[in-house]
This record gives sequence, structure tokens and C-alpha cells, in this order.
Amino acid sequence: MKKRVLSGIRATGRLHLGNYLGAVKGMLELQNDPEYETFYMVADVHTITTPYNVEELRRARREVIIDYLAAGLDPEKSVIFQQSEIPEHFELAFLLSSITTIAKMQHLPTFKEKVKQYPQHSTMALLNYPVLMAADILIYKAEAVPVGIDQEPHLEVAREIARRMNQDYGTDFPEPKRFATNGEYVPSLTGEGKMSKTVEGSYINLTDSLEEIKSKVAKIPTDSGQGPEISGGVKTLMEFVELFEGKEKRNEFENQYRDKGLRYGEIKSELSEAIFKELEPIQKRRVELEKDTKYIDKVIAEGAEKARKVAQETVLEVRQKMGLA
Ligand code: TRP
Repeated sequence: MKKRVLSGIRATGRLHLGNYLGAVKGMLELQNDPEYETFYMVADVHTITTPYNVEELRRARREVIIDYLAAGLDPEKSVIFQQSEIPEHFELAFLLSSITTIAKMQHLPTFKEKVKQYPQHSTMALLNYPVLMAADILIYKAEAVPVGIDQEPHLEVAREIARRMNQDYGTDFPEPKRFATNGEYVPSLTGEGKMSKTVEGSYINLTDSLEEIKSKVAKIPTDSGQGPEISGGVKTLMEFVELFEGKEKRNEFENQYRDKGLRYGEIKSELSEAIFKELEPIQKRRVELEKDTKYIDKVIAEGAEKARKVAQETVLEVRQKMGLA
């Protein structure tokens, strides 16, 4: 039996570099490893847990699928689908919520952050976010989940739910583990926090041109270029250098910082080129994919069919074990 993998990204617009390095690269690695059976979705239902625009969501859920394909996810190798098309996710989430306490959900850092961000929007759906995510994973009995490090508390919830279900109802859910890539934490271009679609000026889009990348990288805050210890925006810059140009280059620059000093202009322009080099082939494929509406429709329809088959089996099993079938 192959090990199962499940991952997803919220539909809040097109993918950015943080999604690509933290999630999509891991998704690709596991897709191309014959030991794994991979399920990759766009988490469009999770999008409605915070305020959103209906038309934007309709567009974004499809854009994420196109970004996935452009980045190299292959429907011949992975089941690629839209979460909302598999209503069994909702069904399992409700069943799982019966063994999940409110207190536990209220204490999650992700919940607290969102409530702070949207004080008028502390909803049941938001509180239930981690339970739905656990359902996404457990419904495929996935063992590995390629996501960024910020998702670790959610995975811990999924493991607790799996254990509890196995104990109380005799199910056989594996405890899912996060599959980490070396881009598991991608810093914000502002020099503070992580790269995020909801923080203006923090991200690079996968579709950005070389000029756009250059102007964004140029804005990473820097200092005089010399000193005993690197911090703030310069540290962010060094992290990007490592991600795109390697550890050695970073070490070299860090030594220079402590010694004769750095010249940021050159470093930033080289880094921008390196980032663009990685994104260019994805952008070219995307242009082709955008033209092929029929193909995208087909991928989405076939993915839903394959995912539904597995999801229905699991839900039936859980209903039986819980006395509901
Ligand atoms: N919470 C994830 C994020 O914000 C998205 C997500 C929803 C997800 N369901 C999932 C990720 C299941 C992995 C597995 O990025």
C-alpha cells in the first residue's frame, strides 16, 4: 500500500512565493516519489471562514488549480481537486467536531490571530477551521502533509483527533505528519513576520515579472551594510539568498558584512534574477494553460471524481463505527 499525502492552499488569490516554497515544492517532491499517492486540493471552503468576496472566490479557486498545474502538479500522478466539490469533507468535519472541545479551538494561535484581524467575524466556521482541515486530511487517511511550518498547530489538532477517533470508535486513522521543505518559512519582504497574501508589500507573486521582482526586492529594508551581527531586513535578504542562490553564497555575504561590508544594490539585483529564473518556466506554462479552458475543466472534474470515491468510503466507515449507518 502506498502512503497517502494530502495538502491544500486557501483560495485567496494567486499563489505567491511563500506558498510555492513552503507547500508546492513539497507537493511536487512527493508527487514524483512512487511511494506516495498524492491528493492536492484548493481549500476553497476554508476561504469562507474569514470575510471574502464571492466573485473573487469563484475566480481564485480556479486560479489556484491553474497555478498548481503550471508549477508542475500533474493530474496523471496526483488527484487535483476543489475541496467544496467533495461534500464528504463537511460531513466528516461535523462528525469530528463531536470529539473536539471548544476550549481547545479557542486557544489556537491561528484562531486568536484571525479574531484580532477581524474582530467582527469571530464565527463558528472560523472556530471550526482546524476541524475541517483535520477532516481534509483524515478523509484520505493521509500520513504526510506538505505545508509551511505555521500549519503545525493545525496538524497537531489533526493528530489528536485521529487518536481520539481511533480510541473511541475503533477507526484506523494514521497520525499525519508535516512534510517539511527547506522553504518551510519564507519571511516577509517587509523584514517582519512571514510572507502573506494579506500583508501588503510582503510577497512576490509567482506571476511577477523580473521588473516587479526587482522593485519588490529593492524595498527589503537594509542598513549601512556592515556590523557585528545581521538582523531585520538584512537577515530576510540573506534568507532569500540562501533559498535561491545557496547556503555558500549566504555565508560569503555574511562574512563580508562583518568584514569589509556589503553592497546591497548588486546583491539585490542578482537575487532578483535568481528568483525570476525559477519562476519563468512556471509563468510560461501558465500562459499556455490559461488558454486551455477545456483541459482545466477536465482536470477539475476528473479530480473530483477520484477524490470523492475515497472520501465516500471513509465517511461510510466512520458513520458505521459511530452508529449512524
Ligand atoms: N490551512 C491551510 C493554509 O492556510 C490550508 C489547508 C486547508 C490545508 N486544509 C488543508 C493544508 C489540509 C493542508 C492540509 O495554508
